[in-house]
Amino acid sequence: MSSYVTRKTPGDTTWFRHDRFGMFIHFGLYSMPARHEWIKSFEEIPEEKYDLYFRHFDPDLYDPREWARQAKAAGMKYAVMTTKHHEGFCLFDSQYTDYKSTNTPAGRDLIREYVDAFRAEGIRIGFYYSLIDWHHPDFPIDHLHPRRSDPDAFEQSKGRDMHRYAEYMRNQVRELLTNYGKIDVLWFDYSYDAQPGFPEWMRGKGKDDWEADKLIALARSLQPGIVIDNRTQIEQDVWTPEQYQMQNWPRHKETDELVTWEACQTFSGSWGYYRDEMTWKSPKMLVQMLVNTVSLGGNLLMNVGPTSRGCLDRRAEAALQAYADWMKYNSRSIYGCTMAEPELLALCPNGCKFTQSEDGKRLYIHLFEYPFQFLELNGFAGKVEYMQFLHDGSELLFEEKTLSHFSEGRTQRDDLLAVKLPVVQPDVLVPVIEVFLK
Ligand code: GLC
Repeated sequence: MSSYVTRKTPGDTTWFRHDRFGMFIHFGLYSMPARHEWIKSFEEIPEEKYDLYFRHFDPDLYDPREWARQAKAAGMKYAVMTTKHHEGFCLFDSQYTDYKSTNTPAGRDLIREYVDAFRAEGIRIGFYYSLIDWHHPDFPIDHLHPRRSDPDAFEQSKGRDMHRYAEYMRNQVRELLTNYGKIDVLWFDYSYDAQPGFPEWMRGKGKDDWEADKLIALARSLQPGIVIDNRTQIEQDVWTPEQYQMQNWPRHKETDELVTWEACQTFSGSWGYYRDEMTWKSPKMLVQMLVNTVSLGGNLLMNVGPTSRGCLDRRAEAALQAYADWMKYNSRSIYGCTMAEPELLALCPNGCKFTQSEDGKRLYIHLFEYPFQFLELNGFAGKVEYMQFLHDGSELLFEEKTLSHFSEGRTQRDDLLAVKLPVVQPDVLVPVIEVFLK
């Protein structure tokens, strides 16, 4: 068994740590301007102008069954979709606001369809819920708010009542966790500090403002085992490093325990659909990000930002296909796998990443840089029963202690294990060697 023990948390993370790979979905009115989901704040768009999106929101090709099929093919086991993003627009039929998809030309509860579609594919359901709300009249104006530079911002902010807003959030979270059956993940976003140079009344917001203790208690009373992130500022089940590839398994600051964590990443530089953003990651990078994350005991939540028509952009489909092609043959090195045991990890050769099955019996060597003909594994002599390429189950021969080749005659090392590889890399983005340990 794996010797890594993660910090105990209130929710049930057993399935979560096994499944490793999820789909993040950012969809909202911002999908229409297609210039980043923060567009209302970035461009300080006035309400009348932003209302245009509300009045014209019509995702006529919205078919989450199509997304769910692609998520499943990509090997994603859970999904987290925005029910409301910072713009405040709700994709579900909340009785506490009119600012919702049912009142747009879309005319439907889009979350209901998402839930049904993903559940039908056997994918677990998560809800992203923004703590920030740039539409709600009680949400205090702060340095991130689209109205921050209005000359009368202070006047506008008078009478805004954070308690009322916190109650609104509880009401909505109650709806979300009552009306859609079992929900596996609740992803709150996010808390932030004051910004220097802004007046005190524009200070940041955190757990006290959200009344996060009540919000979380409510969520737990409705769905006890649900997995909740840490962005209310009250630590729960999962740490959520964003657009950042970890280099170590993160540890709890006070107790030094390993934490359950999930990296969230985008295919290109934005979460919402961004037509002109061109920094799309290469297929190889995408696979490497997944492997890298699991090699450090984490999960990867990979984002898609559907277009305002409601379908996935061709570039996103191609990216998902890259995962599908790789996962079809290599998912055994991902599901139920974690960081390799310290004594093996210490032996990881350059250009490789290890994962290891939870039961400790199999080691997976991911060849990020394909070596020429031999992979020298120092320290491995006597440890291996059998080896194969994972993608085609073909045997990989190995020699121990001595490696005969023509260049220098012989390479000798008592603990050496040399794997013989085909000269040309098999047609797999990241080839994996499956090692059955003795
Ligand atoms: C953020 C952003 C946001 C995105 C998210 C995903 O902090 O504000 O737009 O939804 O994190 O992790």
